[in-house]
Amino acid sequence: MKELVMIIRPDRLEDVKAILDQENCGGMTISTAMGCGTQKGASDTAVKELKGLKTTINLLPKIRVQIVVEDKKVEPIIEAVRDKLATDHVGDGKIFIRPIEDAIRIRTGERGDEAL
Ligand SMILES: Nc1ncnc2c1ncn2[C@@H]1O[C@H](COP(=O)(O)OP(=O)(O)OP(=O)(O)O)[C@@H](O)[C@H]1O
Ligand SMILES: [Mg+2]
Repeated sequence: MKELVMIIRPDRLEDVKAILDQENCGGMTISTAMGCGTQKGASDTAVKELKGLKTTINLLPKIRVQIVVEDKKVEPIIEAVRDKLATDHVGDGKIFIRPIEDAIRIRTGERGDEAL
């Protein structure tokens, strides 16, 4: 099992939901977030204009999508998300992955992949 945390543009949430539905993810947890990446929150144009100048950090609204999936679903999900969300512009988002030791469905007591 792996946890995928995807930080995306708010207007791409419906696309990601559709992908996760198509990939038969067992569930998802969505939260709102503020963040910045390597451009420290500057827009595409601002990045070009301000290159080389010192800028302060600007936090932008983002959506955090957290899922835990079977190992075999990880790469297809990454591929589908990149297919749909990758543009020529900075700020498309990021996916962080980490191993998950176990999961328990509280209602039934199922463990591991069965609990997803
Ligand atoms: N290293 C990081 N640690 C934690 N969160 C991050 C990290 N990098 C990016 N994020 C989160 O992901 C969001 C989107 O990041 P973003 O896509 O701008 O990454 P980037 O590395 O700057 O890539 P790009 O050059 O394509 O913009 C950020 O607003 C932030 O919330
Ligand atoms: Mg960025």
